[in-house]
Amino acid sequence: MFGRVKPLDAILATAEKKSLHRSLGAFQLTMLGVGAVIGTGIFVLTAEAAQKAGPGMMISFIIAGFVCAVAALCYAEMASMVPVSGSAYTYSYAVMGELIAWMVGWALILEYAVAAGAVSVGWSGYVVGLIENAFSIDIPDLLVRGPYDGGVVNLPAMLIAGLVTWLLVIGTKESASVNAVLVAIKVSALTLFIILAVPVMKMENFEPFAPLGFSGIGAAAASIFFAYVGFDAVSTAAEETKNPQRNMPIGLIGSLAICTVFYLLVAAGVIGSVGAQPVLDANGLGMEPGSRELAAQCMAMGDQAVVCSKEALAWTLREIGWPQIGNLIGLAAGLALPSVILMMMFGQTRIFFVMSRDGLLPASFSKIHPRYNTPHVITIITGVFVALFAAFFPVGLLANISNSGTLFAFAAVSIAVLVIRRREPGRHRPFRTPAIYLTSPLAFAGCLYLFYKLDAKSQLLFVIWAAVGLVVYYAYSRSRSHVGRGSVEVHEADADAPPQPVPPID
Ligand code: ALA
Repeated sequence: MFGRVKPLDAILATAEKKSLHRSLGAFQLTMLGVGAVIGTGIFVLTAEAAQKAGPGMMISFIIAGFVCAVAALCYAEMASMVPVSGSAYTYSYAVMGELIAWMVGWALILEYAVAAGAVSVGWSGYVVGLIENAFSIDIPDLLVRGPYDGGVVNLPAMLIAGLVTWLLVIGTKESASVNAVLVAIKVSALTLFIILAVPVMKMENFEPFAPLGFSGIGAAAASIFFAYVGFDAVSTAAEETKNPQRNMPIGLIGSLAICTVFYLLVAAGVIGSVGAQPVLDANGLGMEPGSRELAAQCMAMGDQAVVCSKEALAWTLREIGWPQIGNLIGLAAGLALPSVILMMMFGQTRIFFVMSRDGLLPASFSKIHPRYNTPHVITIITGVFVALFAAFFPVGLLANISNSGTLFAFAAVSIAVLVIRRREPGRHRPFRTPAIYLTSPLAFAGCLYLFYKLDAKSQLLFVIWAAVGLVVYYAYSRSRSHVGRGSVEVHEADADAPPQPVPPID
């Protein structure tokens, strides 16, 4: 199984040709992480978490944050040791061989493309809410919600996915300064929310704290894990980091800690100000978020619960008497979330690109547009799928499916880091995972636990996806693999390889 391994030295020889300009300090890394992480998770999925766990979702945020933190420390060692594109896919290729690498790459398709769909749906919820409230008009649900959510098709979500695809095809890159502005917008929006919601907290809203027990808290953690995805942006900046041994853990743990604190305060604000009890069915069980039953029940209740809202934070502010600020939060989400979609779709095309150049996917996937110099074929294919996911599926399901892929990739990396540490203890590691014999098993077990707590539909879809992946591998990729044919290439230095989506902040 581990037969076809991409030799690490070949990978590194090419990587070394790149100029390594170490310019990032702890602060910039932390900001990079915060910028990549904050998105639909906190802005939208807070409502889903409440439906699963009630006020106990605060514990869910801590569990998910902890699993990410230990996984991040494993990621960082691999990223600093193998600083080339393809992230978890490339690390696995070097350590555990082609089949596992293929499965990880295949899972990353779920992570990135489906996540881009989820964020598109989240964006749609906020923008529709903003338009309806700011202009006092009612847009028919049929056109702005998917079939599971009481509508037919989510047109705005399709639109934003299409727009981002177009930007990527014509080669738009976010500049470091635009990224910094968007980080500021997101952080200000959350801060404003906390300032307004926390003072009107009522302690009785925290009772009962865990209406659906610890099981509900775990299920909410598995969903809310989505809110932390994206920190790999920090790990992949390892080669541009000054003194990575010191700064990487600060950047990773620092950005995760900052996000966790923000998330806890926002969650406390929502719970304390408007209450966050789940809607229960006739048997006293929580209705499934994103289900037709819940949508119908919400409609019957006049959407008078945060768990019914598609724009939880804006809705909360309107409820507590700040309608204009609620609209402002909607505007902030409308402006800032597309950059998360852009990063996700970019990550997707980058993975496809590397897999295609390794021969595992058709060569046409890595075709470069003669004028725009972008991998337009794969970008458009990705865009079509993202738009379809966004049009027809609820945000929570998309986030959970994406989480299943991410958890698989994280689990693979947490094993890979330990395997290579034992196999090649003397290899140069700019960053070493602290207490690796504890951190790596914890990360692996954490990923396993969260996967186990995902809803059955997402787990099943993951298994089907993995099975399809295996068929594609044996029917197509295995015989075409360049490594399998004896040639090892690393495409890091290809002049036409797409660059990083967001350049580091100066
Ligand atoms: N963490 C990112 C978000 O919540 C993916 O949107």
